[in-house]
Amino acid sequence: MNNQTARIVRTRAELRDAVAAERQKGKKIGFVPTMGALHDGHISLVEKAGDKCQCVVASIFVNPTQFAPGEDLDRYPRDEEGDVARLSAAGCNLVYCPSVEEMYPEGSLTNVRVEQMSDLLDGIYRPHFFYGVATVVARLFIHVQPDVAVFGEKDYQQLQIIKRMVRDLGFGIEIIGGRTWRDADGLAQSSRNAYLSEEERTRASEIHSALHRAAARIRIGAPVETAVREARTSILTAGFSKLDYVSAVDPATLQDLPDGPLSEGQGCRLLAAAWMGSTRLIDNLGV
Ligand code: PAF
Repeated sequence: MNNQTARIVRTRAELRDAVAAERQKGKKIGFVPTMGALHDGHISLVEKAGDKCQCVVASIFVNPTQFAPGEDLDRYPRDEEGDVARLSAAGCNLVYCPSVEEMYPEGSLTNVRVEQMSDLLDGIYRPHFFYGVATVVARLFIHVQPDVAVFGEKDYQQLQIIKRMVRDLGFGIEIIGGRTWRDADGLAQSSRNAYLSEEERTRASEIHSALHRAAARIRIGAPVETAVREARTSILTAGFSKLDYVSAVDPATLQDLPDGPLSEGQGCRLLAAAWMGSTRLIDNLGV
């Protein structure tokens, strides 16, 4: 437990000076971008950054460009005071809380799009999403200039897209994935779990259980498509109102795997997105 309160900076200029001062002391800069409403999963990313770096910066910015009209931008949970307290306790040194104008100066025309990987899986259902994520993360990287950045594996497609963007644009930042934090029944922790009613919450963990069973089936040689089909049925039977997808993909390229049992040494990642009432939940699991 850390007793220091993290310093809040709101402008790019303040951030640049604060980071430069730490760098001058020879410190390595670790970065954890967030949209706030922090849970244990976020805190574990901050701790992971702290294991690798002597100065940890977290950002809190609810990024409007990754929400489509009609999505939950306005009701997205916000608690800056509580978030800063949790970040401080986890050893975070600086919290960057920019305004929309700071991130997107008036007249901004430049965006980042990672082709192909952004059009699969979640990209089919939320075509704006990875476009907004890559754009804001690129801008945050330019503002913070970290040595290392940590992203949760819960957003597996996002993590792979960021890795690809960093490689393609030569950012020179080491990208690290942090494991998914789960409640006791297996539901992945997410800021959006707060939208679930008590009754929805009890059923929501089936998205994880279904992937878990599918992974076990594939591991013992079941054809990928059979295991995926069973997972789809289980999720819908558990009371999810709509299933966007369950897919078995190559862990790095995110391309669908051919049907049949996995071949020797072949990687596989299972990903799913489904709606519990008006709440969209995503999850994924390595096989
Ligand atoms: O994963 C998130 O919380 C967001 O997509 C991110 C990476 C902070 C960009 O807004």
